[in-house]
Amino acid sequence: MNRNDSQQDQNLHQGRSAETLTTRQGHPVHDNQNSRTIGNRGPMTLENYQFIEKLSHFDRERIPERVVHARGAGAHGIFEATGKVGDEPVSRYTRAKLFQEAGKQTPVFVRFSTVGHGTHSPETLRDPRGFAVKFYTEDGNWDLVGNNLKVFFIRDAIKFPDLIHSQKPSPTTNVQSQERIFDFFAGTPEAMHMITLLYSPWGIPATYRHMQGGGVNTYKWYNEAGEGVLVKYHWEPKQGIRNLTQEDADKVQSTNFNHATKDLHDAIERGDYPQWDLYVQIMDDGAHPELDFDPLDDTKIWPREQFAWQHVGTMTLNRNPENVFAETEQVAFGTGVLVDGLDFSDDKMLQGRTFSYSDTQRYRVGPNYLQLPINRPKCQVATNQRDGQMAFHVDTFPGQDARVNYEPSILSGPKEAPREHNPHTPYVEGKLVREAIDRPNNFGQAGMQYRNFADWERAELISNLSGALAGCDERIQKKMLEYFYACDEDYGKRVEEGVKKVQSQAKSQLQEYGREASSLY
Ligand code: HEM
Repeated sequence: MNRNDSQQDQNLHQGRSAETLTTRQGHPVHDNQNSRTIGNRGPMTLENYQFIEKLSHFDRERIPERVVHARGAGAHGIFEATGKVGDEPVSRYTRAKLFQEAGKQTPVFVRFSTVGHGTHSPETLRDPRGFAVKFYTEDGNWDLVGNNLKVFFIRDAIKFPDLIHSQKPSPTTNVQSQERIFDFFAGTPEAMHMITLLYSPWGIPATYRHMQGGGVNTYKWYNEAGEGVLVKYHWEPKQGIRNLTQEDADKVQSTNFNHATKDLHDAIERGDYPQWDLYVQIMDDGAHPELDFDPLDDTKIWPREQFAWQHVGTMTLNRNPENVFAETEQVAFGTGVLVDGLDFSDDKMLQGRTFSYSDTQRYRVGPNYLQLPINRPKCQVATNQRDGQMAFHVDTFPGQDARVNYEPSILSGPKEAPREHNPHTPYVEGKLVREAIDRPNNFGQAGMQYRNFADWERAELISNLSGALAGCDERIQKKMLEYFYACDEDYGKRVEEGVKKVQSQAKSQLQEYGREASSLY
């Protein structure tokens, strides 16, 4: 399209320069300081098109914020494959093209985020961090929608709205409440592993550049022969991992509540490009009864000693967004967005997530969100999807007869790709049930994690949990203590002592803010 040429002609024709301020109708704006009024004191008039256009567009500048992960920072970059899994070619496990050759590059867009609070909330809060990566591959887009922590609170997506309601500010006070949070956790023992990480310093990463990432849910890879394996993804920052204690976080927040966004932006601006290595853990497809956990359970890690991390590529972030709204805000990631060679596992939580992402995006951004440049694949796209709010182009191929927006057609229109043998056809059978999984093992890995922490991390965990639980209803405390003891005797004992200590120190004085002011008038 030579839209610029024709626009230039038009501008010259009207005797105005390219810099002339206009309305979106192309009318030159001669006065952007004064509204049209009857006399210079007013009143204003309703036919004031220029004013109404400007204010009414401004009134609609915000789109709904993400229901979770509302605050985020984005960056563009490149993913470069190793072509291998250990000493073997990656093709033994997957035929996904982006991984095949050593040095093969794929453009990416990444959005890091905090989860619970709104778009401009502090980046120092105790919260998981989102780590979502969009790979613009030659086979279409692949989204790896992960978090910094390697496990999650729940293992069934039907619990997600309740989890998030408990984490969001209370509907009666608009303030986040530890009592509401732990009220939910007291009925959710599978959250113990995640709670143990979240209330430790790992719950406040120092910056986005210094945190890990992971797909959390279990996915699959399949090769040319149709053999599938289970896969977990891990991002490891080459900058090292750094976390904040609660005291560190309070200090940072007192001077800067955007520190993580600024840190990422400034590093890229000065050419100090952050990098992450991508690793996979691989397991034969199957239920693995020999393990004390279910490999599809996202509240569990796969022990590294048993399932080695295999380096499959490196991501470098090297370009900041030009416009935060167009890119970071409107970008839309989803767990259903996979390419050939990658697949879902049977993980029921993953299927639940997959419904939720594109559903919310059709509401948040609009039904044509995939036409936006940040979401649109960088390969050829030809669909018969048409119309809907804000459709601004038609996905046709050059020379397509525009009458044909259906398939099959003898006249024109996109044709099905040559039928490629889909080699991966797992057999699925079972009773239709509503049941919890067989190997919940809710406390084992949480206890192990507790024992694995460094002393200062454990002390910080106890202090954060004690502070959070001290003000909760006694019934909630009792249930939670039962869980901490079930994870590890010492864990339970120290939280119990910690809660008592905080309670005995609690001051009942009313907190008064500020200094008494003088009278202005
Ligand atoms: C964002 C749903 C679990 C990572 C979102 C959004 C929804 C959602 C509705 C907002 C998307 C948007 O507005 O574009 C769910 C459901 C879950 C779940 C139903 C559980 C059943 C998880 C888990 C992870 C995760 C386990 C980590 C592995 C993310 C990330 C984002 C996000 C990183 C932000 C993406 C961005 O930056 O745009 N999720 N989620 N979610 N979720 Fe989940």
